Amino acid sequence: MITCTEDCEIQHVAIIMDGNGRWAQKRSHSRVWGHIRGSKVVSDIVQEAKDRKLKALTLYAFSTENWSRPYLEVKILFALLKKFLLQERKSVIDGNIRFKVMGNIADLPDSTKKIINDLEKDSADATGLKLTFAFSYGSRTEIVSAINKWITTHPGVEITQKDLTDRLLVPDLGDVDLLIRTGGDQRISNFLLWQIAYSELFFTQTKWPDFSSEEFGRIVDYVSKRERRFGSTISGTSLKDTTQIAEKNRKFIQTTLRS
Ligand code: FPP
Repeated sequence: MITCTEDCEIQHVAIIMDGNGRWAQKRSHSRVWGHIRGSKVVSDIVQEAKDRKLKALTLYAFSTENWSRPYLEVKILFALLKKFLLQERKSVIDGNIRFKVMGNIADLPDSTKKIINDLEKDSADATGLKLTFAFSYGSRTEIVSAINKWITTHPGVEITQKDLTDRLLVPDLGDVDLLIRTGGDQRISNFLLWQIAYSELFFTQTKWPDFSSEEFGRIVDYVSKRERRFGSTISGTSLKDTTQIAEKNRKFIQTTLRS
């Protein structure tokens, strides 16, 4: 067995933070109470990601489909994002965290957009954890938009995987190694469809407000022990390695079969 190289370790974790509404309703509270309690968990998870020296943490905070929710719920989610950014600004900067929001933030209140833009600018050179909030985000829109950017600048030229990746909302985000969904449902909900192609998946019954840094750590440790093969028979290899080996083998086998 080949020892896992840096390329096959769990370095980028993405989380679908689900179950807030059900958590609150079970306790006879309104759904928004679940979001309020859920927002308090976010900083603990960011801290754990940082302590574990993960390279990236991407959190699904508001999808394009979430715009269909009642006005009050949408308003509260906007307010929680703003509150989080104001509260955590110092720890983001001091913690060498590179912060970004991916999604269409054009329709957010101007004051929130300014806070986002300022923090993105002030943390742009950070070299530690890449913390990204997917907000007003939908993966199909992201992919179509990347293709449209390509078509506009390169009419009639075929697009490659790298060309598409380079035109995603956060081009240097990288592939997701582990996608966690809380709340008990087992679906992807239009989140990072391109980036999770080779991701490990983990679904926990825990509703987001009850999720903890301990459970997060246990999941990362557990999944780190899984054998990742990226389509090859060799364990501990990386996607880059298997792609190169596959290309070499394909050429060799084609030549051999032709002769
Ligand atoms: C899904 O739960 C969760 C969301 C739509 C929003 C996630 C938001 C937070 C965790 C709080 C916001 C925090 C920040 C810092 C932006 P759901 O309401 O769909 O739950 P349900 O499946 O039980 O109905």
